[in-house]
Amino acid sequence: MAFISFEGGEGTGKSTQLGLFLGYLESSGIDAIATREPGGAPGAEDIRKLLVEGEPGRWDAITETLLHFAARRDHLARVIEPALARGQWVVSDRFADSTYAYQGFGHGVDLGLIEALYRMVAGDLKPDLTLILDLDVDEGLRRATGRGSGEDRYENMDREFHERIRQGFLAIADAEPDRCKLIDAAGSEGDVQARIIAAAKARFPDALP
Ligand SMILES: Nc1ncnc2c1ncn2[C@@H]1O[C@H](COP(=O)(O)OP(=O)(O)OP(=O)(O)O)[C@@H](O)[C@H]1O
Ligand SMILES: [Mg+2]
Repeated sequence: MAFISFEGGEGTGKSTQLGLFLGYLESSGIDAIATREPGGAPGAEDIRKLLVEGEPGRWDAITETLLHFAARRDHLARVIEPALARGQWVVSDRFADSTYAYQGFGHGVDLGLIEALYRMVAGDLKPDLTLILDLDVDEGLRRATGRGSGEDRYENMDREFHERIRQGFLAIADAEPDRCKLIDAAGSEGDVQARIIAAAKARFPDALP
């Protein structure tokens, strides 16, 4: 089994690429589940609504951080940990690096506080591979707008916030090069998919020859 997360800013193609990647894993004979954050379990999906809908300023930064970690704890306890224990691969559309990037680098929440909360909800568990999709902020926001899902609270935060998030993800990739692979998210869906598959094969040479 393996735990893989897809990360990156708004509209970088995480959900598109996760769908393609899951198909690739299935064709490789791997038993995998797809999940997402915030959410991924019934209780966590209820918390998701509080986070992705409504006014950008409806939560102060620490409350927002705690809500993400409450959802993450439910997701880990109810879905991720049981799946890994059954031997399944788990592929998550966003995970904890989004909290470091959005609440830490974006809103200025102390990274040490985020680290302490992470330990409390996840202990030593970390993704085996994190694919960080990197894209020009304006291009990402162009791709993301107009989907009409109502899940636009983060999208509606200012451009500088999104630039800090991008820089935050780059800093995370730099700090943890063994776990995190930076993926250039420009170009066609097929181009990006090829980069992701190459990174996964390099990380899991036995399972993905
Ligand atoms: N390589 C690509 N080139 C152009 N458009 C793309 C590409 N990949 C995805 N898109 C389109 O861009 C939009 C955003 O993609 P997607 O929803 O996968 O991004 P996301 O990272 O999951 O966004 P969010 O952060 O809002 O969840 C979608 O309409 C999708 O069809
Ligand atoms: Mg998405």
